[in-house]
Amino acid sequence: MIFSPTTANITRALKRLQEGKLIGLPTETVYGLAAVATQDLAVAKIFEMKNRPTFNPLIIHGASSEALQEHVVWSEQADRLAHTFWPGPLTLVLPRRDTARVSLLASAGLSSLAVRIPRHPIALTILKELGDVLAAPSANQSGRVSPTQACHVKAEFPDLFILEGGASPVGLESTIVDLTSDAPSLLRPGAVLQEDLEGILGPLHSPQGGSIKAPGMLSSHYAPSLPLRMNVVEPQEGEAYLAFGQTSQKVMNLSPKGNLTEAAANLFKMLRLLDQKPWQGIAVAPIPMQGLGIALNDRLYRASRA
Ligand code: TXA
Ligand code: MG
Repeated sequence: MIFSPTTANITRALKRLQEGKLIGLPTETVYGLAAVATQDLAVAKIFEMKNRPTFNPLIIHGASSEALQEHVVWSEQADRLAHTFWPGPLTLVLPRRDTARVSLLASAGLSSLAVRIPRHPIALTILKELGDVLAAPSANQSGRVSPTQACHVKAEFPDLFILEGGASPVGLESTIVDLTSDAPSLLRPGAVLQEDLEGILGPLHSPQGGSIKAPGMLSSHYAPSLPLRMNVVEPQEGEAYLAFGQTSQKVMNLSPKGNLTEAAANLFKMLRLLDQKPWQGIAVAPIPMQGLGIALNDRLYRASRA
């Protein structure tokens, strides 16, 4: 069920959270499936509802940097990033404090914790009034396309209490930076760009070795049901074409003007709309590998590998 964000409905949402229930929460990146992060049972429900592997940790959302610092070991690097980009679409992975109250299940037993302050006014209001931290993965079944509208969340979880927050303005999940070692690395590209992070941190490293550092970044992810091909100029018979920039090809266009910000905001919505009969596949136009295009291509690559 979708509820408009009236004062009465915000109060109902807070009550549900305090009772250990889940809600659909709008953020500026994508909609989250939120539970109070310090309640073990509520966090367990997130994994159950999403059918999410329990080795895949959740991002912890707070109203302020102080609220998050109760749970993670803060650093000068974290402080500089937080001052520049919070509230906003940046997640920091930091060492988990021994005294952290966050459910161990939320961090999947890791010694680190991923934290962020969202920028969406409804998410911020809920966090401030709750006075605690929320665990919130994207509100989709594990492995599927993230929701950027309340109706997408309803399609995934018809019985969930969802707050209406409009279309997510960013449209892609937050950028994730790992600050747990001396060499910071980018775990997931997003709207906060690598070059802007490097302006503060110096060169970022790519995560090394065979181990997956962000356990959710399995290569098959963000997947529509139909097969998806990237970098397509001429779609095949039966394929829905998702264009970018000026083109004579019509079905849908991520951004007729070739604007990457607009394309990011449209990507998941359009993938959902095209992911149905009579189409047999989705073919996506080339997206330039610069700025937000890096995050867009990352999500498309994962969707193409399903
Ligand atoms: O924009 C976002 O980040 C959205 C909104 C709702 O805030 N949330 C989101 O959550 O995208 P989710 O669960 O779909 O993706 C979280 C990612 C996963 O890839 C997970 O493996 C990674 O963050 N992650 C969480 N905790 C981590 C940790 N301690 N170390 C490394 N990666 C972590
Ligand atoms: Mg997700």
